[in-house]
Amino acid sequence: MYTRKNQSTLTSAERKAFVNAVLELKKRGGYDELVRTHIDFYVSDGDGGLRVAHMTPSFLPWHRQFLLQFERSLQQINPRVTVPYWDWTRDNSPASYLWADDFMGGNGRRGDLQVMTGPFAYAHGNWEIRANVTEDRFLARDLGRPNDPVILPPPADVLRALADPVYDVAPWNSTSRTGFRNQIEGWTPGSGNARFRTHNQVHRWVNGTMLGAAAVNDPVFWLHHAFIDRLWSSWQIGHPHSAQYLPAVPPPSGDPQHGRVAALDEPMPPFGVRPSALLDHSRIYQYA
Ligand code: CU
Ligand code: CU
Repeated sequence: MYTRKNQSTLTSAERKAFVNAVLELKKRGGYDELVRTHIDFYVSDGDGGLRVAHMTPSFLPWHRQFLLQFERSLQQINPRVTVPYWDWTRDNSPASYLWADDFMGGNGRRGDLQVMTGPFAYAHGNWEIRANVTEDRFLARDLGRPNDPVILPPPADVLRALADPVYDVAPWNSTSRTGFRNQIEGWTPGSGNARFRTHNQVHRWVNGTMLGAAAVNDPVFWLHHAFIDRLWSSWQIGHPHSAQYLPAVPPPSGDPQHGRVAALDEPMPPFGVRPSALLDHSRIYQYA
């Protein structure tokens, strides 16, 4: 059992160990494989097939397993490394230490939004993007989208989601109006920035590479998703008498979501792991 820590509490040695393990995984090719997995499973409501990663109840367990896979790869390089989490309700500005030169690096420059500082700057030679949905080979960020400003989600948005006693509701997609899962995933009927709340709003705030299917190319992806995973963990502790995952059984034939979402005991590709196997992480890791 190991501990995932708040990134703001890491020592400089811990920050360095994390960054070095990520760079080594990139050098070995394993990082790009993870990016490809995320691109392959980036399907939306409009696609006809099974959705396991986004706009779906298994958004949380799929990313829990995805984080574990990343973390295990890092631990093969350095057994002491764990994935830190970014509490964006507190560390909510471009001035946060998260974006320092010895950790995630800074904002993108004007024009092409290319990140020029820190270990993941393309110009420093260790972070060429190879799996992408555009031709770009460099990490791009546009923190806060100054041309169309967006803020990071306030604590109240997270508290509202945590207070919902129901894990997820039909139709089990981006239009589910209540339920913890979509309140945290963050799809709303709005347009522009208002369409994106909580988890989605954070992707939108970082902007650049963090938007869309290839978001994993920005290492802050993992710190963001570790916090999402921590929020799921908090929700579970806060609602011990609620069904810990829904739907419990597959939607019946005739239901528009039949064959399109993973129920509690259905394996999620590509991992082959069932949501039911991921509900309790306490024997693997805990959150500080
Ligand atoms: Cu994702
Ligand atoms: Cu995400």
